[in-house]
Amino acid sequence: MTKTFPSLEKNRIKVLLLEGLHPLAIDRMTEEGYVVEAHNRAFDEEELLEAIPNVHVLGIRSKTLITEKILERAENLLAVGAFCIGTNQVDIDAACERAVPVFNAPYSNTRSVAELVIAEIIMLFRGLFDKIRQAHGGRWKKSAQGSEEVRNKTLGIVGYGHIGRQVSVLAEALGMRVLYYDIIDRLSMGNATPVMELRDLLEQSDLVTLHVPGTRDTEGMMGRREFGYMRDGAHFINASRGSVVDMEALREALTSGKLAGAAVDVFPEEPKSKEDPFITPIQNLPNVILTPHIGGATQEAQRNIGLEVAGKLIRFTNLGSTEGAVNFPNEVLADLRGHHRILHVHQNVPGVLQQVNAIFAEANINIAAQTLRNHGEVGYLIVDINHVVDPEMVARIGAMPETIRVRVLG
Ligand code: NAI
Repeated sequence: MTKTFPSLEKNRIKVLLLEGLHPLAIDRMTEEGYVVEAHNRAFDEEELLEAIPNVHVLGIRSKTLITEKILERAENLLAVGAFCIGTNQVDIDAACERAVPVFNAPYSNTRSVAELVIAEIIMLFRGLFDKIRQAHGGRWKKSAQGSEEVRNKTLGIVGYGHIGRQVSVLAEALGMRVLYYDIIDRLSMGNATPVMELRDLLEQSDLVTLHVPGTRDTEGMMGRREFGYMRDGAHFINASRGSVVDMEALREALTSGKLAGAAVDVFPEEPKSKEDPFITPIQNLPNVILTPHIGGATQEAQRNIGLEVAGKLIRFTNLGSTEGAVNFPNEVLADLRGHHRILHVHQNVPGVLQQVNAIFAEANINIAAQTLRNHGEVGYLIVDINHVVDPEMVARIGAMPETIRVRVLG
């Protein structure tokens, strides 16, 4: 594997973009002056094995698998951009071991999810889903029964992160009172009030909406007991992860009349493709809004993902900045400001910094700025110097047994 990377002119940087990325992302990379090849489909293993040795920057969505076998062949690969939310399709540890940061766009669709939740809050309080269904069936159910305004109702938000906070702001603008529960202290938005126990939130809310991650800790966090704590006739929304809710318990709460209604966007088992059937215990209930995991699926989110990931790839390629990399030491780096920069990825063991600095000292080179960040087994050393970088010095750093990769910028 190539360990040393000299500074490359932009028109020698080859970018391969797969799976029909947003045109803005392709334009952004092209305008940067890189050589961009874009395809509307995923590459299978064979195609990728053939293409990858010459690629410096790879952009994919969720269908292209980046396995260790692919990374083994990716001699020139500097970075991978996953133009989506998750990075399960990439062997991120194997990428890290080869000094390849992986970037994604975890928060590009925050607003989209929050807006769907707000729409569902109003729909649930007005019993709209059943009224729409009846009207389509030719039945005129004109009635104020079970139909309420959201103003002055109490909204309970479980998980006060990016989405939870956006929902909080929008809900307050509608005149709702907001309570939230999180496992870490989160600053309140507006007049939202934190509660210390999940149970308190469940007991006090007219509608509970979940915005927690899908972790071992949150698995089944809403079960029979928790639905039991909720107010009679309350509503429930889950647009977080399917694993968080016991669906049989939710069905019971809905059919027994404990809950007035629910809106669910995510399920413990979701179809892998559009052709696969979709089955859930809460189908065919008049008070349930079901959506096919589309909380974050909007044009704006796609656009944001394209721009966000393209921006991260460009900042890494041009500056070495790794902000937002999922598998790599994170470091925000500014412009080179006329300096030359050496990016040294190495095994995170004692003595590396000393060795590198000794090489600089022997070459009589003054260091303008230096930063070291670690992530697990890997260290990322960034050194800015005023001097043109001597290839022999780079070769010496590259020859250190702890060196995984050394790249020069400027
Ligand atoms: P985030 O990481 O910004 O916020 C999650 C919050 O939940 C954090 O404040 C965290 O401290 C809190 N939390 C973690 N464990 C908790 C627990 N046991 N009890 C209470 N709070 C807990 O995440 P973000 O971006 O707000 O996303 C929230 C959820 O929405 C995630 O599950 C994500 O996968 C999902 N999502 C769903 C989409 C859809 O299409 N329906 C699209 C985007 C995200």
